[in-house]
Amino acid sequence: MKKVLVTGGNGQLGNELRVLSKLGNDNHQYFFTDVEDLDITNESDLKDWFSKNKPDQVINCAAYTAVDKAEENSSLCYLINQTGAEYLAKECNNVGARMIQISTDYVYHNEINRPLQESDPTHPQSVYANSKLEGDLAVLSASLNNLVIRTSWVYSSFGHNFVKTMIRLGQERDSLNVVCDQIGTPTYARHLAQALITILSHPESEGGIYHFSNEGVASWYDFATAIMSIEGLACQVFPIPTEQYPTPAARPLYSVLSKEKIKGSFDLTIPHWREGLKECLSLLKKGQ
Ligand SMILES: NC(=O)c1ccc[n+]([C@@H]2O[C@H](COP(=O)([O-])OP(=O)(O)OC[C@H]3O[C@@H](n4cnc5c(N)ncnc54)[C@H](OP(=O)(O)O)[C@@H]3O)[C@@H](O)[C@H]2O)c1
Repeated sequence: MKKVLVTGGNGQLGNELRVLSKLGNDNHQYFFTDVEDLDITNESDLKDWFSKNKPDQVINCAAYTAVDKAEENSSLCYLINQTGAEYLAKECNNVGARMIQISTDYVYHNEINRPLQESDPTHPQSVYANSKLEGDLAVLSASLNNLVIRTSWVYSSFGHNFVKTMIRLGQERDSLNVVCDQIGTPTYARHLAQALITILSHPESEGGIYHFSNEGVASWYDFATAIMSIEGLACQVFPIPTEQYPTPAARPLYSVLSKEKIKGSFDLTIPHWREGLKECLSLLKKGQ
């Protein structure tokens, strides 16, 4: 059995990979680690771990993901998102493993107003986005076999995210203002995890950048409205422009990702974001 290391295994995506790995539908032996047992910024621990376990592939789900806090904690953010990714890529090279780095739509943040292609110019405008781009570049330059999967607006029944916040606020309040001029696509982490498992089973596939999100397009307002409606919450959602909801870190107004490359390369069919949302909400209802 080929060995797969998943770093950041206690996060949203790491947990979804863990759930799918337990189904035993693929021929991999998984190692799930997180900061307490394998800190990706600790080069000597990484070296020891890799020489002992010699993974065949590594999915790096470990990241500093607090986008607004990153503006104040930039050193830690760069340490995890850039240096940690760089160390991992180096260890992958030492044992001949392929690395799959998870990254973000926020690296684009340009003026383009149609689905973003992998070849489009990047223009990160926050500490988080810039640190992720630096991590991507380190991983890509370490080996032509490495993949960078850029995704957007990730949520899951695990961890903290927009969906859970909306459910809580929807239960507490009669109305809510949500930004309507940031356009992108929500991604159910379980669907991304499924795609990653398919990618693992193609170890010889071409390296480089790929995009993954669910299908469809939404504003945060559309997403919030759908959450209230599926949950049957009476809370009224009002659309507001970004300027009425200022945040420390700037977000792109348009970051819909084109998925043509990943769909064609791995023969993927990607569900619409509303399907992902329904699936996640139904798991949350069951307390899973
Ligand atoms: N969430 C989104 O909306 C979104 C959107 C686009 C792209 N992405 C990307 O998708 C990937 C997965 O995101 P996610 O939502 O699953 O993130 P997440 O839930 O925040 O999980 C990240 C995990 O990494 C761990 N971690 C932090 N520092 C570490 C270190 N030094 N060594 C090892 N593990 C460490 C975190 O532990 P602690 O919690 O203890 O810090 C956490 O368990 C990330 O690369 C992220 O940048 C996320």
